[in-house]
Amino acid sequence: MAGDSKTALLAGTAETAGLKRGVPAHVAIIMDGNGRWAARRGLPRAEGHRRGVEAVRRAVRAAIDLGIQYLTVYSFSSENWRRPASEVADLMGLLKLFVRRDLADLHANGVRVRIIGERRGLADDIAALLREAEERTAQNTRLTLVVAFNYGGRQEIVRAVQAMARAVQEGRLSPEAIDLGTVAAALDTQGIPDPDLVIRTSGEQRVSNFLTWQTAYSEFVFIQDLWPDFDHAAFAAAVGEYQSRERRFGGLTAQAG
Ligand code: IPE
Ligand code: IPE
Ligand code: MG
Repeated sequence: MAGDSKTALLAGTAETAGLKRGVPAHVAIIMDGNGRWAARRGLPRAEGHRRGVEAVRRAVRAAIDLGIQYLTVYSFSSENWRRPASEVADLMGLLKLFVRRDLADLHANGVRVRIIGERRGLADDIAALLREAEERTAQNTRLTLVVAFNYGGRQEIVRAVQAMARAVQEGRLSPEAIDLGTVAAALDTQGIPDPDLVIRTSGEQRVSNFLTWQTAYSEFVFIQDLWPDFDHAAFAAAVGEYQSRERRFGGLTAQAG
């Protein structure tokens, strides 16, 4: 019958064309290239970082606009302490400025802030600002902005292993009961779904100790733009590239995220 063949035709089309992916629920970004952006203009690296903060604001707006639920930004790695003290101070200053200037706006726009990374050893004023950002926005649901600060994926796993070892020692956990869920729940990203898409700017094609556990099945998109140039169009293009990918998670057919 006509109706049946039409249904069959549509089903066949969907199968042969493959599933059109939806919007990624979680996008994580390695924001790289601030220094090169500045160097190309004969400006100090600090100016590149300052312009990088503006790109973060654009990325948050774009994420909301695109319907993304979780946006993680890598803002300072455990290894970035190796940079000259003056640059580390610039980056710390910019984080403080960002929280002080943008928290009210983020809150008004329904953004929930989560911070991942090592808190111990941070200056008291920074630790207090991070706590304030999380507490004030805890009830928001439009977008979760995860800021990876003083963050290293391997260091995060070490802290999780220490927490689990303590639980075993205190009799709260048995080694046989440890599974994928136990480890995931011991990480800083507890309760946050794994990234569907990881974007790295500036042309570098490496992970640099970012979300080591969580990116086991993420799609990676590497783009040439330097971070201060990243805009809505670049974000939408990366999402479009993600949507053209087939995710199989070890199976033989495309799977939903
Ligand atoms: C990214 O830009 C910001 C941080 C890593 C803190 P970079 O500072 O790494 O810029 P490049 O890679 O030197 O150009
Ligand atoms: C990764 O960028 C860290 C952040 C974006 C915060 P880096 O510039 O530190 O990475 P490498 O040193 O080039 O791998
Ligand atoms: Mg870099």
